[in-house]
Amino acid sequence: MAAIKYEPKIEILKDPEILAQRTVEIFVEEVEKTLEIKESFFVALSGGSTPKRFFKLLGTLPQSKALPWDKIHLFWVDERYVSITSTQSNYKMAADTFLNKVAIPQENIHRIPTEFDDINVSARKYEEIIKDVFKLEAGQKPVFDLIMLGMGSDGHTASLFPNSYASLDMDNLTCAVYHMDDKLNRITITRSVLCEAKQLIVQVQGREKAAILKDVITSQPDEIRYPIHLLWLVLDKVAWLIDKEAAANL
Ligand code: 6PG
Repeated sequence: MAAIKYEPKIEILKDPEILAQRTVEIFVEEVEKTLEIKESFFVALSGGSTPKRFFKLLGTLPQSKALPWDKIHLFWVDERYVSITSTQSNYKMAADTFLNKVAIPQENIHRIPTEFDDINVSARKYEEIIKDVFKLEAGQKPVFDLIMLGMGSDGHTASLFPNSYASLDMDNLTCAVYHMDDKLNRITITRSVLCEAKQLIVQVQGREKAAILKDVITSQPDEIRYPIHLLWLVLDKVAWLIDKEAAANL
């Protein structure tokens, strides 16, 4: 049987700044479109280095500053298990780049707690926060209006890494991810939550991602090898925003 051809919706942008501007444009569009039919906009942010420019523009461009931030609820896709004062904290990166530049009420900021000794307690606590804010019934999954993702140079997304049990967790909304090396232990939302989202954006930039991106885009789905292939189930909901450098091999 011929291999199925998957068609990710890819937009190639000239450089990281243009990519960040385009991301703001889509973010604003999604907020405005959603708030025409709903009271609140639920978005989950990723960390790492790629979203930094996007966050900075969120906090400076008039069109994003003018959004009704009191109707926007921020969550995180994943978090390193470090203090919020650590330079490796995804929350800190957002706080330092835009959180104090937009009029978002503190109660709309739902960071992943990392202050418990036991990382599993934090994972369960974050799951309770999600259930509470989304007002979920038992067994219900949250439907984020937008989830922002990156892609690691090993094909991971969120904190769902290759050959990791976390990519297979279908029962929980969140899970703890242990690393034996310097990748830090993390908490992540799970694949079923990612796939439930109404819209997802994957930002990929830099020449160092060109080889892995080509491999991810052109090879048959293999979620153990490349966890970002979990998105192949919902590609119609995913916008891939890629700069020219990362798209060099496509
Ligand atoms: C994290 C992110 C992670 C990130 C990728 C890409 O906590 O590190 O959530 O999933 O999106 O690792 O990271 P860069 O943008 O730094 O390349």
